[in-house]
Amino acid sequence: MEINQLKAKNYSILVGKNSISCLASEVRNHCPKCKKIAVVIDKKIPKKFLVRIKKNLKKYKVFIFFISSSEKIKNLEQTNFLINKLLELNFNRSDLIIALGGGIIGDMTGFVASIFKRGINFINLPSTLLSQVDSCIGGKTGINSKHGKNLIGSFYNPKVVISETELLKSLPKREIICGYAEILKHAIINDKKFFNFLKKNTKNLILLENKTLNQSILKSCKIKLNFTEKDFKEKSLRMRLNFGHTFAHALEIQNKYSNKLNHGEAVLIGMLIATRVSKFKNLCSNNTLAQVENLYQKFSLTKNLNKYFKKKEILKSIKFMKNDKKKDDEKVSLILLNNIGKTTVPGKFKYKINQIENLIKDLF
Ligand SMILES: NC(=O)c1ccc[n+]([C@@H]2O[C@H](COP(=O)([O-])OP(=O)(O)OC[C@H]3O[C@@H](n4cnc5c(N)ncnc54)[C@H](O)[C@@H]3O)[C@@H](O)[C@H]2O)c1
Repeated sequence: MEINQLKAKNYSILVGKNSISCLASEVRNHCPKCKKIAVVIDKKIPKKFLVRIKKNLKKYKVFIFFISSSEKIKNLEQTNFLINKLLELNFNRSDLIIALGGGIIGDMTGFVASIFKRGINFINLPSTLLSQVDSCIGGKTGINSKHGKNLIGSFYNPKVVISETELLKSLPKREIICGYAEILKHAIINDKKFFNFLKKNTKNLILLENKTLNQSILKSCKIKLNFTEKDFKEKSLRMRLNFGHTFAHALEIQNKYSNKLNHGEAVLIGMLIATRVSKFKNLCSNNTLAQVENLYQKFSLTKNLNKYFKKKEILKSIKFMKNDKKKDDEKVSLILLNNIGKTTVPGKFKYKINQIENLIKDLF
């Protein structure tokens, strides 16, 4: 059993096959007074994991809440439902909520944990590649509103993150690619060496080959931690992680959070648009753009997403940037690319909605 441990300031991240077997000891360590545990679990998680968890936690009163994950349930109604259940069951702060699911369940459950009685113990067991390499790190929790994505939320750290890599085996390839999108983002914005590693190892990574998978999850978490630990409340540095995301969120809203375009896919599209804008603005070279485009092509990352690259489709989405959280005045701040491994400084490139529309008209 090889379990890797990464240390953040206030919590640890355990990564690897069978890391889930550490759950009971982690609960004992971090939540010594806990009696009741609520497990919010994605319906698609294979039953054997729930059986293992129940066995692991047999000393506690465990309540299971199954959720059918989609952006549409990451909302106030579902949050309210969970909070009322916990109140009915008389949970208190020394008890514990566990999220066992992807970024949607993790974000929403973390949010519930942060506001329930001003903060109850929270443990995250991310079950998708995207959640293991990205959303489980950095303490952002939240839900969507009809006005935009993740507009309601908090910063709240879990007691521990346990990334059981065996969970990924039941993920459809489409979801693996979505997780890969965030891994790739971390390489593009921060680490040329890691980008070169991905050029060689993407195939193995997508096939979940053990060593490549573990290395990539750990590397990705380290990069994200580096940004989030230095700037927890996203005042500046952390905004670099939004590379591609302003376009991605707008596309997701335009498509009404439909399963036809999920978050990781929107991020893949958003990163490519942002890189093309960067070249257009002469912020990066032709070669930088070519390196990113070649990687997309070589591994067919956006093979089924051509329709979203159409000028008309992108233009329709731009108006939704007006509610972007990163917008602090009338302008939208874009994180663009200087080089592989280096983005522009947050806040340096700000555009009015109509200026972004004009950019897209010129580009596509
Ligand atoms: N908090 C953050 O810092 C942060 C960062 C990035 C993304 N996010 C959020 O994460 C969300 C996307 O996360 P996601 O891609 O994990 O989505 P998700 O939670 O919806 O999971 C994707 C799909 O995989 C299924 N699934 C989950 N685990 C499975 C398993 N082990 N086997 C089989 N199927 C499984 C789910 O039911 C769903 O259909 C978005 O809402 C995004 O805003 C948050």
